[in-house]
Amino acid sequence: MRFALLFSSAALLAAPVVPKKKPEVAKPLTSAQKTDYAKVIQPIFDTHCVSCHGPKKEKGKLRLDTLEATLKGGKNPTFVIGKPNSSMLLSRVFLDRTAGDVMPPKEEPPLAERQKEALYAFVEGQPIPDELAKAAGAATKAAQAAPKTAPKIKK
Ligand code: HEC
Repeated sequence: MRFALLFSSAALLAAPVVPKKKPEVAKPLTSAQKTDYAKVIQPIFDTHCVSCHGPKKEKGKLRLDTLEATLKGGKNPTFVIGKPNSSMLLSRVFLDRTAGDVMPPKEEPPLAERQKEALYAFVEGQPIPDELAKAAGAATKAAQAAPKTAPKIKK
């Protein structure tokens, strides 16, 4: 017994120390970016993501129900403003709908192109143009109004 204990602590000590990847340093959001988030991005997340990434479920340890939670990320970082190409969240959203990792998952209603474009502009650090904000907003409203299919049994 004692031997087993000693042995396991030795194994722990011998385990290689994996250096933690430093997260990319994010600049604080400007007030215009915060407004874009509140007006355009959060409604998209509320409509398409929060059922699995919010107070009720935290899939992938990720919550998208507030700006703070979104920026904090889940098991992995979501995005750093100004670095769209290294954003895990964007890459999952822009995956082909047939990909196993696509978000929202295949069985859920997909994001509209204009919603994805708005998300991309936001992560790029660009102001979301009015026309795009309106189109994305209309797509979000349409998704909210769409009749929900019969509740599915999920794991
Ligand atoms: C029906 C449930 C469901 C919905 C809706 C959903 N997701 Fe997910 N999501 C999951 C599950 C389950 C995981 C964990 C497994 C995985 O990584 O595929 C996940 C993981 C993720 C991750 C990776 C988290 C990490 O840190 O590893 C991201 C990013 C993500 N989702 C983004 C989104 C976005 C953005 C939306 C909305 C546009 C969305 N999800 C909608 C179920 C969902």
